[in-house]
Amino acid sequence: MDAVSVKKVALLGMGTVGSGVYEILEKQKQNMTDKIGCTLEIVKVLVRNKEKYAQKVPAEKLTDQWSDIIEDDSIDIVVEVMGGIEPAKTYIQEALEKGKHVVTANKDLMATHGHELLDQAKAHQCDLLFEAAVAGGIPIIRPMKQCLLGNDITEVMGIINGTTNFILTKMSEEEMEFEDALRLATDLGYAEADPTADIEGYDAGRKLAILASIAFHSPVTFQDVYTEGISKITAKDIRYAHELGYEIKLLGIAKLVEDGIEVKVHPTMIPLHHPLASVKDAFNAVFVHGDAVDDAMFYGRGAGALPTGSAVVGDIMDIARNMQYHCTGRIGCSCYRKIPVKVMKETRSSYYIRMKLEDRAGTLAALAGLFGSNNVSISMLIQKAKEGNTAEVVIVTYDVKEKQFMDSMTVISTMSMVKEISSVIRVHHVEKEE
Ligand code: NAP
Ligand code: HSE
Repeated sequence: MDAVSVKKVALLGMGTVGSGVYEILEKQKQNMTDKIGCTLEIVKVLVRNKEKYAQKVPAEKLTDQWSDIIEDDSIDIVVEVMGGIEPAKTYIQEALEKGKHVVTANKDLMATHGHELLDQAKAHQCDLLFEAAVAGGIPIIRPMKQCLLGNDITEVMGIINGTTNFILTKMSEEEMEFEDALRLATDLGYAEADPTADIEGYDAGRKLAILASIAFHSPVTFQDVYTEGISKITAKDIRYAHELGYEIKLLGIAKLVEDGIEVKVHPTMIPLHHPLASVKDAFNAVFVHGDAVDDAMFYGRGAGALPTGSAVVGDIMDIARNMQYHCTGRIGCSCYRKIPVKVMKETRSSYYIRMKLEDRAGTLAALAGLFGSNNVSISMLIQKAKEGNTAEVVIVTYDVKEKQFMDSMTVISTMSMVKEISSVIRVHHVEKEE
């Protein structure tokens, strides 16, 4: 009987994701041969501080020297779960140069340098897989690159940041204000000590760039994505949204329209009956529209040691199987065309505006007239509350070009009867019935 082949793996990083990968690979050892026809062995684990990991990893495997990995020709697969751009990028490039296959969970890196790294992998007939880089444990990259390849995908829309979804869920269900919900997210370990990347939409923006590139077969990088976070959302806006039949979610929206690609991350009011409205807590979901499949939604845990480790280990096992069948390097960068990315002011949306107006005859007519003269059509106008001589008004517009809407808001904000523009939130598709 032939000896079972052993593929050797080096882990770069042993933090949240690295420890999940380690645990899953240990647990899967018994069934590995039945599943992929070979076994996997973690032979090296790179960290900065070896002492910190002495209880978790046998001493002979732990290293703080990259040279122990890159100079070891017996290592087949390098798994980068350190994060950040450098030295992760250099290590991945050096690994590919040496013909080592790579798995990474690094969205920061893939959203900016993914195309270059994938081309490099292909040139060396290596696999570079990154399923965990978007929406943690949810399979979405492989489904889009493979299972949905027979589609022209025109829209990808998702809740791709768990921290902000947790915060918005608390604001929606428990009427918490943003700061209190953020504090709770931090106390429970969802939000990091510096939560900027999550709450300002940068984390979601990186994931959206990766999704848009794959969906539309055209390069989109993080720099192309418009990002706006959730820190200005109030419990009152969420309550009003409910009254109007909407939920507020931080959505990543990528659309292929006639004259380009729209890629934006911002708080969005979506109808309560939309499947994304019921995605709660730290869960993620990605909604894909293709011409053949119609609508498909992928739901699950977007972060955490085991869910993210699940995606990373899936990639490692896929590579090991490809090695067995001598078919590595099959799926590289899927961008075969270059479609322009539209600037934000050229994209379209509907808008919810909450404002305080002077409560006197003619105010609403003047406001409606000004919107009208900029071709902004109003779908709904409700007077919510009155305080002395001031009325709180909520307006929802139909779909309009961002530039037209923003131009009218610039003028409106200077009108003497407008006492305060309290919030502006984009609304998902309010289209006129013809
Ligand atoms: P983490 O908990 O901060 O762990 C990072 C690990 O990498 C630590 O073991 C650290 O070792 C090591 N490391 C960092 N820089 C290093 C360097 N220059 N040389 C050697 N070792 C280094 O990070 P994580 O949450 O596991 O995230 C890892 C990656 O997965 C990131 O790209 C992240 O965006 C992505 N990701 C994370 C999640 C999640 O749920 N956490 C989900 C999806 C994707 P020391 O402790 O010795 O510094
Ligand atoms: N910080 C991310 C989130 C998880 O809150 O979804 C890692 O991608």
